[in-house]
Amino acid sequence: MERDLDAGRRVSESASEYSELALPNDANGLGNLLGGKIMHLVDLAGAIAAIKHCRNVVVTASVDHMDFLHPVRIGQLVRLRSSVNRAFRTSLEVGVKVWVDDLISGSQRHVSSAFLTFVSIDAEGRGVPVPPVIPETEDEKRRYEEAGARRAYRLSQRPR
Ligand SMILES: CC(C)(COP(=O)(O)OP(=O)(O)OC[C@H]1O[C@@H](n2cnc3c(N)ncnc32)[C@H](O)[C@@H]1OP(=O)(O)O)[C@@H](O)C(=O)NCCC(=O)NCCS
Repeated sequence: MERDLDAGRRVSESASEYSELALPNDANGLGNLLGGKIMHLVDLAGAIAAIKHCRNVVVTASVDHMDFLHPVRIGQLVRLRSSVNRAFRTSLEVGVKVWVDDLISGSQRHVSSAFLTFVSIDAEGRGVPVPPVIPETEDEKRRYEEAGARRAYRLSQRPR
């Protein structure tokens, strides 16, 4: 039986993992993965968690600042974990953390992190209310609180 969505969905219900092997087609001249390819994967991984939370179509409204901490070499595995930090009215913030796994040595490194805002829309492109998020763990509760401050900053920077 469908649960009452007004009560919200747990973070764990939509938390997702997405992986892709770094291939030569997406390399720069040095043989490392292009930053733009990682941004594309971040958008996809974020959208998966957002869609699972809303059970509806979403569009990307914004992506916060991103740093790239380590290069990804061709042949390594890019692994992305995404989870919904907080839902607002029609929008929600998703956090995505990117790791690179070297399949030969077994090493794992944190490459980048990003916060994305998705908006749930209908067929006419109008915003659709999203179910609230139920944070359960200490980390989820911290991210929930921090997402509120980030939203205020983000909207203050929005072009008029
Ligand atoms: C994102 C989009 C739906 C917002 O539409 P809008 O008419 O400006 O909507 P509103 O002002 O009513 O805002 C709707 C929600 O989006 C949020 N939002 C809008 N712009 C935002 C931004 N730049 N950053 C964060 N949130 C944003 C608002 O806070 C609001 O959230 P809430 O309902 O939870 O309070 C619209 O701009 C759009 O469709 N953009 C293109 C999206 C797209 O195609 N993305 C793929 C890459 S091109």
